[in-house]
Amino acid sequence: MHEDIDHVVLSEEEIQERIAELGSEISANYGDEPVLLIAVLRGAAIFIADLARQMTCPVEFDFMAVSSYGSSTRSSGVVRILKDLDETIEERHVLVVEDILDTGLTLKYLLKNLATRKPKSLEVVTLLSKHGKQRVPITCKYVGFEIPDEFVVGYGLDFAERYRNLPYIGVLKPEIYTD
Ligand code: PRP
Repeated sequence: MHEDIDHVVLSEEEIQERIAELGSEISANYGDEPVLLIAVLRGAAIFIADLARQMTCPVEFDFMAVSSYGSSTRSSGVVRILKDLDETIEERHVLVVEDILDTGLTLKYLLKNLATRKPKSLEVVTLLSKHGKQRVPITCKYVGFEIPDEFVVGYGLDFAERYRNLPYIGVLKPEIYTD
């Protein structure tokens, strides 16, 4: 285990096992229909790579990057698109891939934006959902794990851009925040 990690919340094995289940479930629902996976950078980059490899239906990729305007963004829900999709999603099955659903403000904005582009279907898969934290209702068809409201890193999730490459999800030692 990394020396900065206090304890592991989800092990590599638990994560990979759940992603295999999600991949099967999602593939069964789309059948032979192609699905466009849209990952929201940067955290979801790890998840989309593993999830796609557990899917058997035809899969295509695209990416978006979003940012907030200043520190009030989290509460205001104002999201700025830094990188938009490369292609149209009109009449395509779209599955938005997120690493974590926290307040739900990012996804609320994204889903509203994507819906205006007239996809054939629009669903969300999130690896993690913080229990009881959602401030806006989000319909997330596929959820990997419900987790308690504590700050976690690893498997795409960062603290000051670090720890995204850990293959498990864990909680940092308190002194890492205060140093
Ligand atoms: C995280 C995560 C979601 C968002 C969820 O991204 O990937 O996009 O926060 O939070 P919300 O439900 O409260 O809106 P972050 O802004 O940390 O960027 P990153 O993926 O580049 O780390």
